[in-house]
Amino acid sequence: MTVNIALTKGRLEKESVKIFEKAGFDVSLLKDKGRKLIFKDEKMDYNYFLVKSVDAITYVEHGVADVGIVGKDTLIESNLNYYEVLDLKIGQCKFIVASLPESRLFKDYGHIKIGTKYPNVAKEYFYDKGMDVEIIKIEGSVELAPLLGLCDGIVDIMETGTTLKENGLVVRDEICDISARVIVNNTAFKLKEKEIRDFLSKISNVI
Ligand code: PRP
Repeated sequence: MTVNIALTKGRLEKESVKIFEKAGFDVSLLKDKGRKLIFKDEKMDYNYFLVKSVDAITYVEHGVADVGIVGKDTLIESNLNYYEVLDLKIGQCKFIVASLPESRLFKDYGHIKIGTKYPNVAKEYFYDKGMDVEIIKIEGSVELAPLLGLCDGIVDIMETGTTLKENGLVVRDEICDISARVIVNNTAFKLKEKEIRDFLSKISNVI
């Protein structure tokens, strides 16, 4: 049976394709993809398709994809239904809290505003600290928000730390480590068990 694989495009894409290549999959079409979004691997009987990270989870949850490659950041933030089966150890970064150095983020229990692409992660973090903060959802370039006075701090992912540094922000706390994970649709795991286990074992051998 064909295994349908949702790949997160962008940052994780290249490294995922590298792992697939090492595992012996035919990724020639993926490497030379142009604007195409679906790629057939005749050798392995796999279909790969490229989607945004949160959409990869949606496709897996609905069983359109049997397997997905998604960052742990998106998995933690979304609250969807799937099996998380493997840590690919790529796309390694951290969830952090950052602010301008002078921000009284953890001292001032007045009205604190937090800008983030990850409102659920931020809410839970500050709830655990017993802090009642206002969360402002931002879609990208989150580092800009405290510089312009939209918020007092941010919750975001940090990989090299360059974006924070170049914008004069400092890490105030580290929340957790993140990396790309393989997720599997609950039903597909039963219906295509042999094919999915074979896929996972080939991948495990090269990470
Ligand atoms: C992510 C993240 C930071 C940056 C961190 O953004 O939100 O802005 O990467 O990386 P660094 O620590 O290596 O500098 P991304 O590049 O995905 O784009 P976005 O800001 O548009 O979401």
